[in-house]
This record gives sequence, C-alpha cells and structure tokens, in this order.
Amino acid sequence: MKIKLTAVAVFIGIFFASAQEKPVYLNVDKPIEERVEDALKRMTLEEKIAVIHAQSKFSSAGVPRLGIPENWATDGPHGIRAEVFWDEWNIAGWTNDSCIAFPALTCLAATWNTDMAALYGKSIGEEARYRNKNILLGPGVNIYRTPLNGRNFEYMGEDPCLASKMVVPYIKGVQENGVAACVKHFALNNQETDRYKVNVNIDDRALNEIYLPAFKAAVKEGDVWAVMGAYNKYMGEQASHNKVLLNDILKKEWQFDGVVISDWDGTHDTKQAIHNGLDMEFGTWRKEMETAPKPYNLYYLANPYYELIKKGEVGTEELDDKVRRVLRLVFRTNMAKDRPFGSFGSPEHSQAARKIAEEGIVLLKNKKSTLPISLYKKKKRNILVVGENAVKRLTVGGGSSSLKAKYEISPFDGIKKRAGSLANVTYAAGYKSPAVKEQDVRDAKEPEKETIDLKALRNEAVRAAQKADMVVFVGGLNKNSGQDCEDSDRANITLPYEQDLLIKELLKANKNTVVVIISGNAVAMPWADDAPAIVEAWYNGSEAGNALAGVLFGDVNPSGKLPFTFFKQLKDFSAHAMGEYPGNGTNVSYRESVFVGYRWANRMRIKPLFGFGHGLSYTTFKYSAARVDKKTISANDSVTVSVKVKNTGYRAGQEVVQLYINDVVSAIPRPRQELKGFQKIYLKVGEEKTLSFVINKDDLSYYNEKHGKWIVERGEFEALFGSSSEDIREKVSFKLK
Ligand code: BGC
Repeated sequence: MKIKLTAVAVFIGIFFASAQEKPVYLNVDKPIEERVEDALKRMTLEEKIAVIHAQSKFSSAGVPRLGIPENWATDGPHGIRAEVFWDEWNIAGWTNDSCIAFPALTCLAATWNTDMAALYGKSIGEEARYRNKNILLGPGVNIYRTPLNGRNFEYMGEDPCLASKMVVPYIKGVQENGVAACVKHFALNNQETDRYKVNVNIDDRALNEIYLPAFKAAVKEGDVWAVMGAYNKYMGEQASHNKVLLNDILKKEWQFDGVVISDWDGTHDTKQAIHNGLDMEFGTWRKEMETAPKPYNLYYLANPYYELIKKGEVGTEELDDKVRRVLRLVFRTNMAKDRPFGSFGSPEHSQAARKIAEEGIVLLKNKKSTLPISLYKKKKRNILVVGENAVKRLTVGGGSSSLKAKYEISPFDGIKKRAGSLANVTYAAGYKSPAVKEQDVRDAKEPEKETIDLKALRNEAVRAAQKADMVVFVGGLNKNSGQDCEDSDRANITLPYEQDLLIKELLKANKNTVVVIISGNAVAMPWADDAPAIVEAWYNGSEAGNALAGVLFGDVNPSGKLPFTFFKQLKDFSAHAMGEYPGNGTNVSYRESVFVGYRWANRMRIKPLFGFGHGLSYTTFKYSAARVDKKTISANDSVTVSVKVKNTGYRAGQEVVQLYINDVVSAIPRPRQELKGFQKIYLKVGEEKTLSFVINKDDLSYYNEKHGKWIVERGEFEALFGSSSEDIREKVSFKLK
C-alpha cells in the first residue's frame, strides 16, 4: 500500500512538474505577447532568418525544433486557389482541392450590404481553414481610378467609404477561423501597366482621403493580421519596402502589429527590406534560382540578410521585430486556442455564394418592365441566349485569383434550368474570343490559331433572334490577358470581339432583347439608349448562372448598386481627362487628386451613363421627410439626420439608402458629394421605415496638406439622401459653429 501511494505521489509530482514546464509559447491560455517573447528567445539566428522568407511558392518555414508550424498562404480573394507544385505556379493536380468560387469583390461591393461581406469572409475563411491555409491573400481594396485597370474586379470600387465599410466584416469573418486575412495591395496599385516599376506621384490629400482609408479601416477596425505590400513605387521606393507607407503610416501611425508580406516578387533590395517595414518575403524569383540547389536561400531576406548580420553591418533589432510579427501571426492562427476546423465545398458555401451574387447583380436599365421575364403555362416561350459569356468558364483565368471551382453554373445553364419546361431555351454564340493557353497548367500548349468569323457568328445569332420571343445577350469582358486580368490593362473601354455591333443588330432584330454584361469594369455602351433592359452581372463564381436566372425571372428582386461610375467614354474618367494614365513608364501622376469617379462627375458636371450607387429594383421607393436633429452644432458634436423611405411599388424589395455630405462653402475645392454612410433596408409592399445616420466631425473633415491633418471648417453642410450619386431625393442642412 505504501509503495503504491509513493508511486502515485511521484506520478502526480511528475505530472505537475511537466505541466509547469510546458513552455509559455505552447500554452494557448497565455497572452500572445508572452508567447511571442518566449518563443523569440528560444530561436537561433538561423531559425529567425528562416521564418521571414518563403520556402516554397506559397509557404514559409516554421521552427521544426520547437514545434512551431509553417505558414501557408493562398489566394484569395474569391476562393481558395488550387494546390500548386512546390516551386511553381502550376497546378499540382490534387483531386481534393476544388473550391466554391465566390463572386468577385466588385460584386460583393455592389451588394452594399455589410452582412454579405461578413458572410463572404466567414465562408471563404472556412474554406481556407479546411485546406490548412493560415493566410488568405485578400481582400483587395485598391481604389478604382481607371476602367482599364485589369484588376479592378478584385477590388471594391471607387469610393473609400464603401470599400472601408465592406472590408471590415470580410476580414473579421475570415479571421474568426484562425486564418489571417492579408489586405492588399498596399498601396496605390491602381493600374497593371508598368506595375512593377511605376512610381505614383500623389498629393497627400488624395492619398489620405481616397487611397488609404480602406486600408486604415482594415487595420484599425478590422484588426487585420497581415498586409501585402504592392508592386509599384511611392516616393521612388518600392511599396513592399517603403519607409513612408510601411514604417511611418502603417506601423507607427496606425499601430499595425501584424505582418507585412511582400507581393510575390515585390522585394528588390535587402537593406530596404530590412529597414523599411517588410516582414516576410515571398515570390522572389530570378534566373539563377532555377538551378540553385537551395533557391530560397538567395532571397533578399535570407542569406544576404544573414551575412549582413554576421558581418556586423546590421543589428538584430529589425530582425526581432519581424520575427515577433511572424510569431504573432502563427499564434493567432495555426497555434490559436479553440481554432475551428473549417469546411470546404459545402452546400452552405454554395448558398452563401449564391446569396451574395443575387444581392450584387445590378439592374442598370429596365424600360417598360422588360424584366422580370414572364413564363406562361399555356404558351411555351422561345428564349434565345446569345453570347460567349453565357457558356464560358469565368472562374478560370485573370491571374492569381484564378480558381479550380468544384462547379460553375453558367448563365445558359442557370436560365435553362429556371425556365424548365415553360420555355425553349436555345443558344447562339454570336461572338467568340480566341482560345488562350490554360493558366497555371504545366506544359499547357498554345492553342492552335483558329480563324473566327465574327460576321458569320453574328449573322447566325441575328437570324435566330428574329425568330425568338425574346433574346438574352450575355457578353462583356472575360479573364483573358488584356481584359479583366492581372498583369496587364485593357486597351480601351469598348467591348471586345465586335460585341457592340452584335448587340446593335440583335436589338434591331428583336425589340425584346435583354443585355447582360459580365465584367469587373465599366464598359462603354453605345447601344444603351436602344436596349430596353441592361444588367451588370459581374464574375459571380460557382453560382453565377443560378443567381442571374433568379434576377432575370424575378425570383430575386435586384438590389445591387454600382460600386463605381460607368462613364460614357474613357475621357470622362478623371485620370484620362487629365492625360494621367498610364504615365511615362517611370512615373504616373494622380493630378486629378481627390476627384475620382463620381467626385469628378459632380465637379465637371458630366452625366455618366450610370452613376456610382445606381441600381434599379422591380419595385419603387419613395424618400421623404428628411430631418436633422440640430440645426447648428459645434465641432465635437454629432448630428443625427434621418429620412423616411417607403416601398411604393408592387413587390417587396431592398433599397440602399446613400448618405452624401456636401460642404457648401469651403476654403479648398471639395467634392460636392462624398459618401459618408449607407444602409440597405428591406421593405414589404407599402412599408415605410425611418433611417437615421449619425454624422460626426470625421464625416465633415478634409485632409489639410499644409498641416498634415484632417480639419473641419465652419459653415453650412448638406446631408443628401440618394438612391444613387446621381439621384438625390432629399436633403437637409446644418451649420457647424
Ligand atoms: C499578386 C497577388 C497574389 C500573389 C500570389 C501576385 O502576383 O499580385 O495579389 O496574392 O501574386 O499569387
């Protein structure tokens, strides 16, 4: 008995001793900062260097000796990218990595619904988590400056307030899964032409008022754990190691405590990378690396950094700061307490993708109630679908956001399925784009040159259109290089493949023709006056066709609003009006300053084709009784403005009520309207609701360059309530003392 008791005592002793000895960094109940310091002091110089640069295309080393796992990043931002080979962009051919493709971020922005952003973040975060990725390379919040930017589809539009409000819930949703969001591309990556070298000249006001707010919101409100530096330069320095952007603004001013990740191959210099705020280097690739036995040791933050430390040319203070940030990232994600397990390709994610797509699709025009399409039991309708985008896979291509989707419902499939036995749905191509080499496929062959007879395709479609009861044209852009695609910009704003001609002829052949544009960018529509109905349907991922059919047939009452202005022509966009795109190869100057998108339209009194915030519904909304709670306020007060909105039509639906502020008299030129808030509300037929918005000093301020801070001026302000930037329905004014 005595022996037994002693054994138990020894066992308990060992148990407690070992429990106590558990290193702090492994103890998930300890505060992260304690864990970080504990791990840091256990690491050797070699281990520290190893964790701050890539070890493969998308991963960086952990600390195997200490049981600290590797970091695995993935694109982002529309779904979880397929697994690639260790050192390549090419798809590795796994069979368990087909994801749900969510709508492009332009569509998410077009929902103007922060709940949709939260749903998006949660869902894509779960997919990333299941796939054992702890860094999601997204979302992107670079501002829409020109419709030629090949990457606008990955961003959230032209307005800093909209992008800021949408980015925060996305980040939170992702990070709830123990997956870091990595907001990108910080900053000023607003064109793809010359993206690796172009230096952006911009005034501080435009930088602070237009181009930085969404990043700031990501950091200060979204508590984002990672930020990706951009490719371009600012103040002559690469954005991925840029003193002003990363050290002064991001880390000092905004107190960002996460990791700055370089864009892939965005690092160019060891000393700058050490001193100018870069924490992790990814994607660097030079010729000699192809044959080097240990290519990743050649990274700027690998051996070259190590050598500098060994020679005593640089200290280890910066290194420790970088490693602390990396460790923080690991403890927030891979080694977090109660980290969920995620889920992948689930029906819930399909539903989320569909819901977001349905809410983001924008009804641009609808004369004589052309839409929704009616189907009759007694008389089967002949619906002709025309256009390559009705059948083309659009989740593939476009660069780093290309996806291997579990499935993709095309518009044609969606329409056919929804119409069922009540219509004959047939297809004519009408136009075709040249085949391109499949992206990221090892040994993919250049497709053989084919001659595409656009005229013959057009004639065939027009003949079919004459006989149909109605036509649904589905065209626009695609993800091929030179369109909505990374690494190059569009050549112009017009539709490719002679689509304008085709649309014009279809409209002549059949008055009942609905035009659906799929794009991530504004396109010119010289036929817009003749088209009875126009829909912007974005790149909507796996559920694209179902969501579109839902809107076309009226199961869904459209509620999307444009997140950027559709000007009629290229020269109406401020960057182009000023001749400041794409720059001279070395520099590009944002001379239009803060006057981007609708801010420019208002200033120059240009009537766009479709304004920022525009989007119709199958019902109508009446705005009335705008009120302000105080007529005069002082700078530290807030003021509450409200407006009544009533559903005056015959269907339940959602409206996005937009609040713009106008500083009536100001010392410097200010936009006549600036979005400062919005709310999406659901109203039943006849229902009326009062919506209130609180406006404070920040909403009234502008960035004063001379003083380097935000200031607010005395005088009169107007609060404008609009259904779009071009359709202000009610206003109230108040004075600031
Ligand atoms: C893109 C990033 C992307 C990265 C990794 C780069 O070319 O600019 O947005 O996350 O590649 O694929």
